[in-house]
Amino acid sequence: MWSRLALCVCLAGSVAAMCPDDPEVDLCEEAADETSHSIRNGAWIALFLPLASTRPSLATGLAMALAAGSVGVDAVTCGELKTFYKNEQCCGQPTLELSAPVPGTASCPYSFAKPACSNAEPQTPRDLTAGAVGQMTPKAATLTDDQANFLPLVNVHFHLGAEHKSEAYSDDTDSIAYDAASSGRRLASNPRPGFMCSKSSLNATQLAPYTFSYCKGDVQVGKSYEIHYVHSSAGTDNNPDAINADLLADGLGGAANGRGLLNPMVVVQGQIFQIVNGAADVDDMLHGWTVVGHDNSVMYPGSTTGQSHDNEVCSPYSITWHVDKDCHQVSPESFDMLCKQMKETYGMEDDLYPHGSRMLVDPMYVVKSEFVKPLA
Ligand SMILES: *[C@@H]1O[C@H](CO)[C@@H](O)[C@H](O)[C@H]1NC(C)=O
Repeated sequence: MWSRLALCVCLAGSVAAMCPDDPEVDLCEEAADETSHSIRNGAWIALFLPLASTRPSLATGLAMALAAGSVGVDAVTCGELKTFYKNEQCCGQPTLELSAPVPGTASCPYSFAKPACSNAEPQTPRDLTAGAVGQMTPKAATLTDDQANFLPLVNVHFHLGAEHKSEAYSDDTDSIAYDAASSGRRLASNPRPGFMCSKSSLNATQLAPYTFSYCKGDVQVGKSYEIHYVHSSAGTDNNPDAINADLLADGLGGAANGRGLLNPMVVVQGQIFQIVNGAADVDDMLHGWTVVGHDNSVMYPGSTTGQSHDNEVCSPYSITWHVDKDCHQVSPESFDMLCKQMKETYGMEDDLYPHGSRMLVDPMYVVKSEFVKPLA
């Protein structure tokens, strides 16, 4: 089903934008490799909501929308689709134009192409330090804390370093080194580090290495992580009496397109944790951020994040951000417990690794500072 969507979108005239980011990789290979670690950290899985647009759920959603709507769709088998793909000699030819419509598709009513930043709604991450500017006036409303908590929690994941920047997390040493080594390109196996909390006041005991049993990849004592608590109206749970019921899953497929909903309302709460030996234990880091009182949290309108977006290719999703501007120290045991819960309770695998951080978005593509308000 999803290949049909990809082809459909290709037909809609946005080959490079919608198809898997690496144009040299064939659709068939991508599908087969979808769950592998190299791809997971690679071009098109390491991002956020947009990954859902290349996942089966969205293809299924579109197919359902097509089937339910006025657009006629004939049943097409995967084999027929594959034959079509091969007959068109698509493999290895990402820019080749198809000679005929994809079987079964009368037309393609939606474009899932990522917009150029010059044509996109305000983006995330934004600089949250005092005096940081932005140029955009948002159209979407910003949801409040109560409204966020009304939406089901559909996914929790963490980024290496903070994607946002605040006075507390502003050390960009690792980001600069990564960008220099990668010359702007994504390094397939390594997530891009974001901003780190200062380590200058930590002693050797506090910084001693810890062996994580559940968290994978670059999870280390001394480093900081921005955890994203993703709430979405597309969450499977729509029982108001069981909001935030246990329905977490890997990736943001559920946030972007759960139950085929194409315009979900999404709020992401971001909290930055620095892993420090001997720091406080947090009983449950998984089911919501630990920030209370919101003395130093902001809300603003933005987008999804991740390394597949930069200052040219932007995210097509408008979402509300709630971001805490403090660094919260946490014990490595608690951080590993987060991964343990993700794995054992929810069967999550991909999100046990840190995701890469999007570079701070240019002021041209983020909201004016007047739209960054104290969280209410
Ligand atoms: C390191 O700092 C912690 C927390 O302040 C303190 O309890 C510990 O004694 C220090 N260790 C050393 C070796 O200085």
